[in-house]
Amino acid sequence: MSQKHIVRLEPVDIEFEVDEDETILDGAFRQGLMLMHGCKEGQCSACKSFLLDGEVDLDRYSTFALPDHELEEGWTLLCKAHALTDLEVELINYDEETLRDGVPLRTVRASVEAIESLTCDIRRLVVHVEEGEMPFRCGQYVDIRIPGTDEYRSFSMANLPSSDGRLEFMIKLYPGGRFSGLLADGGLQVGDELELRGPYGVFTLRETDRPLLFIGGGAGMAPILSLLRSMADQGVARPAVYYYGAREEQDLFHLDELRALAAALPNFRFVPALSDADWTGETGLITDVVDRCEVDVADVDAYLCGPPPMVDAATELLLRRGAPEAQIHFDKFTTTADAEENSPT
Ligand SMILES: Cc1cc2nc3c(=O)[nH]c(=O)nc-3n(C[C@H](O)[C@H](O)[C@H](O)COP(=O)(O)OP(=O)(O)OC[C@H]3O[C@@H](n4cnc5c(N)ncnc54)[C@H](O)[C@@H]3O)c2cc1C
Ligand code: FES
Repeated sequence: MSQKHIVRLEPVDIEFEVDEDETILDGAFRQGLMLMHGCKEGQCSACKSFLLDGEVDLDRYSTFALPDHELEEGWTLLCKAHALTDLEVELINYDEETLRDGVPLRTVRASVEAIESLTCDIRRLVVHVEEGEMPFRCGQYVDIRIPGTDEYRSFSMANLPSSDGRLEFMIKLYPGGRFSGLLADGGLQVGDELELRGPYGVFTLRETDRPLLFIGGGAGMAPILSLLRSMADQGVARPAVYYYGAREEQDLFHLDELRALAAALPNFRFVPALSDADWTGETGLITDVVDRCEVDVADVDAYLCGPPPMVDAATELLLRRGAPEAQIHFDKFTTTADAEENSPT
């Protein structure tokens, strides 16, 4: 049997036990502690923390997420670190309310209820949880096991949590993608069974009075739509704007629902922008459109979701324009290709 160690988190003064066999992040999730994280694959650096005391062993990770000089200074990635001794860890990115408010992790089986085209390369997948329940907070995601393998892929829920057991996803098709390919070539059919593990993620709405700025692209609409649907459900009147970037008009979808949300939410605007086509709406890269259209972003709560380069560019823009880092929340949709490109050899 592997050894157990105590992890003490500063400055929040929380202690929990981890097994040497599990990562510190998995140990925390098991006990309902939602530590800050993104990819859980050592690629995005969202879980980066400072080791004040003790020793860890790291599984394979990206040197973009943790450069060697930072490792030497004492930084670590909680999604890849196994405790070898008792540890004292200083959290850098954390939100105490989110941290203590985690939904304990579970594994469930679900059957495929629908697979529909949203655009030429984005599919809507609806599953029905057959066994148990999968409670989650709007903005969170689950890991879906690729059938017949031990590999998982992360997908954000677009729907509201409800008791009917349905989960709705938006999935971008990648050529040769091991999971998304199944949606394109009929490898996954209505009635097939899937295994889901979760919920994960800290892309949840923080309760403040600040205006909301959502920026997204592609399938990154999923968690943002979940948040907007919950705001409409609860009658949230905070000023909010959603900038959505696509290449061409045919890449836009759910326009009727977004218009309906704009009508239902008194202070909400939806701003789609096209990067590769002329039309009557906004044109250009989504970050350039935000830069051009938003006068003041210094005191917004920003939520960014989509491909990593888009999230990085939007973060850079917001920081340059004076938004505090703690008010910028993001989910980067990293893929295995990002892991391969950035891993140490
Ligand atoms: C927190 C989080 C939430 C996410 N939510 C969503 C979501 O809601 N919707 C969504 O669509 N995606 C989401 N993703 C991304 C998703 O998890 C998958 O990574 C994505 O769907 C690709 O998985 P796949 O199995 O289809 O493709 P993979 O088989 O993983 O391949 C991905 C792409 O990389 C290429 N590739 C694979 N290996 C290599 C390599 N060695 N070198 C070069 N190229 C390679 C493939 O050809 C393909 O184009 C999320 C990711 C994270 C981290
Ligand atoms: S969650 Fe640890 S690097 Fe992404």
